[in-house]
Amino acid sequence: MKTLIAYSSKTGNTKKVAESILKAFPKGEISDIKDIDNLDYDLIIVGTWIDKGTADAKALKFIETIKEKKIAYFFTLGAYPNSDHANDCIKNIDKLFLDNKNTLIGNFHCQGAIDPKLISWMSELPAENPLSASKGNVQRWKEAAKHPDEKDFENAYNYFKMLV
Ligand SMILES: Cc1cc2nc3c(=O)[nH]c(=O)nc-3n(C[C@H](O)[C@H](O)[C@H](O)COP(=O)(O)O)c2cc1C
Repeated sequence: MKTLIAYSSKTGNTKKVAESILKAFPKGEISDIKDIDNLDYDLIIVGTWIDKGTADAKALKFIETIKEKKIAYFFTLGAYPNSDHANDCIKNIDKLFLDNKNTLIGNFHCQGAIDPKLISWMSELPAENPLSASKGNVQRWKEAAKHPDEKDFENAYNYFKMLV
């Protein structure tokens, strides 16, 4: 099966997860979304980081071009992996693929360290802002900073190994 792993990654988290997934596809190809010029694959696995609750802008643009293909996807996010926010991201990204008549065979996600520049910006926000440095948010940022870790890489590999 001709497989492409196509990722968009700003600070490297999603790229690292993509590289773990590649190990599950010895003949698979891996590429940054920006370098992809053909979609002639039996399976396309799209990796994105989460921006405002959905795929980031570059991934959104790429996803728009994928029609009637066999697809799986994965993402990294700052929120907890078992949060409502993570579930909303799955719903949002599912819809993007399904609207274009793709066949979705699975998805995977894990937490990813948040860009320190964004943390600095959020730290300056007034306390009433839900993104500000509240105790809960700071705890979550610290947890996110540990990911993706070896367990995430193993989980990603195992998930895709089992899928195909
Ligand atoms: C501008 C910006 C917006 C973000 N928006 C969200 C978001 O809406 N929800 C979330 O859970 N994480 C959000 N994050 C966190 C990233 O999705 C997360 O850190 C991800 O692992 C980054 O992946 P990368 O290293 O591949 O770029 C945001 C990060 C940035 C920089």
